Amino acid sequence: MKRITEPELMEDEEQVSAYANADFSEAHDHFIALIQQQVVTDQMPEIVLELGCGSGDITQRFAEAFPRCVIDAVDGSQTMLNFAAQRLPLHLQQRVNFYTLLLPAIQFPKSRYPVVFSNSLLHHLHDPYTLWESLKQVGDPGGMVFIMDLIRPDSISEAKQLVYDYASGEPEVLQTDFYNSLLAAFSISEIRQQLNRVGLELSVEQVTDRHVFITGKI
Ligand SMILES: C[S@@+](CC[C@H](N)C(=O)[O-])C[C@H]1O[C@@H](n2cnc3c(N)ncnc32)[C@H](O)[C@@H]1O
Repeated sequence: MKRITEPELMEDEEQVSAYANADFSEAHDHFIALIQQQVVTDQMPEIVLELGCGSGDITQRFAEAFPRCVIDAVDGSQTMLNFAAQRLPLHLQQRVNFYTLLLPAIQFPKSRYPVVFSNSLLHHLHDPYTLWESLKQVGDPGGMVFIMDLIRPDSISEAKQLVYDYASGEPEVLQTDFYNSLLAAFSISEIRQQLNRVGLELSVEQVTDRHVFITGKI
């Protein structure tokens, strides 16, 4: 099935509110657990960058899982970042910095980071090389990368089945969002081709019926 892109930024108030209030705990805890399999808690570098942090759910989970870390979290949508800032618990406010930043960016809050992570950004990007080039631009040489995203199903009926299986209890706007995101996602072989083209030797592994996990060193 051919990829169908969706708008890059999530800026519509209703869409963002539904996204920010949805329960993504299963997928997001899984992402954090996959990172914890790669790096033990006290060996996580003290400063990390999150790309496309949205309403900050992963940001918070990462901050709780790695209590020594300061997280610079960026997103191009001010609407998303408003939700992220509002819901950030007081005890994390010293360690989480949100920045409005549209990718590709000329400048990041810091010039280089030893860890860059991102969940569900890749499928939003019309040009996937925006993500891969950003990693090369802002990741330390030898720095770690953790990316999770959706995998594009083979057919419309598979996409509809995934929406039914995982989002049938959610508001319609969220179901539509999920469906559009599945259609906008890349296949595993497309991701491998993209990484080959930019010379990033990262492992690409399917970790659920709908998610891919991409990790390794820059
Ligand atoms: C599906 S959300 C994921 C949010 C968060 N990472 C999570 O897992 O809950 C994708 C986010 O990427 C942001 N985004 C998309 N394209 C972007 C770009 N070119 N620059 C910066 N942010 C972008 C959107 O605004 C949105 O907040």
